[in-house]
Amino acid sequence: MEIKVGRYRLRPFRRGDEPSIAENINDRKIERYTLNIPHPYGLKEARQWVDFNRRLARDPKATQVNFAIDLDGRVIGGLGMFRMNGHSAEIGYWLGVKYWGQGIVPRAVKALTRYAMKALGLRRVYAKVFPVNKASARVLEKCGYKYEGRMVKADVKHGRPVDALLFARTR
Ligand SMILES: CC(C)(COP(=O)(O)OP(=O)(O)OC[C@H]1O[C@@H](n2cnc3c(N)ncnc32)[C@H](O)[C@@H]1OP(=O)(O)O)[C@@H](O)C(=O)NCCC(=O)NCCS
Repeated sequence: MEIKVGRYRLRPFRRGDEPSIAENINDRKIERYTLNIPHPYGLKEARQWVDFNRRLARDPKATQVNFAIDLDGRVIGGLGMFRMNGHSAEIGYWLGVKYWGQGIVPRAVKALTRYAMKALGLRRVYAKVFPVNKASARVLEKCGYKYEGRMVKADVKHGRPVDALLFARTR
């Protein structure tokens, strides 16, 4: 599956993506705002990520799907849907720091949300954001997601409970 978003493409991760994934994701500013992206993040982590997604693509029971944000064949970011159950899904995303502030992720999130609702027939797509992550909350607002409330101690980050802001788009 592939979705064209202006100059960018959302497409599956594949072998050969490892160097551009590692180059763009290996940043504390990305680790800080996400739950499952480690730092440092090198070729080994990128290879595990690509292999994991190749296995997912072959699994008919998969409840998760991840896309690379591809610019000219290189991975500059990623976004995915997880906890997919035929009715709803959670989304998550990241973008290489040097590409921030150009509206790339909002366009990608809009396209993925449309795909989730139109092609997959989901009624609810939601995202959880750390309260300090103003940019991500803004992305979701721009994509028509509504703020639903603060989930107190929703997750654990660096060994401590952290709150999450819940946003959702429904139809
Ligand atoms: C969040 C992220 C994906 C945004 O992607 P992007 O393509 O740069 O998004 P945008 O171009 O829309 O820029 C972010 C928006 O937030 C705003 N913003 C950024 N920092 C902000 C701050 N500290 N306070 C308020 N608004 C802020 C920007 O002004 C912009 O909004 P605008 O278009 O109304 O001016 C990117 O910053 C990222 O990868 N962050 C680290 C990983 C992450 O947070 N993932 C999401 C986890 S929930």
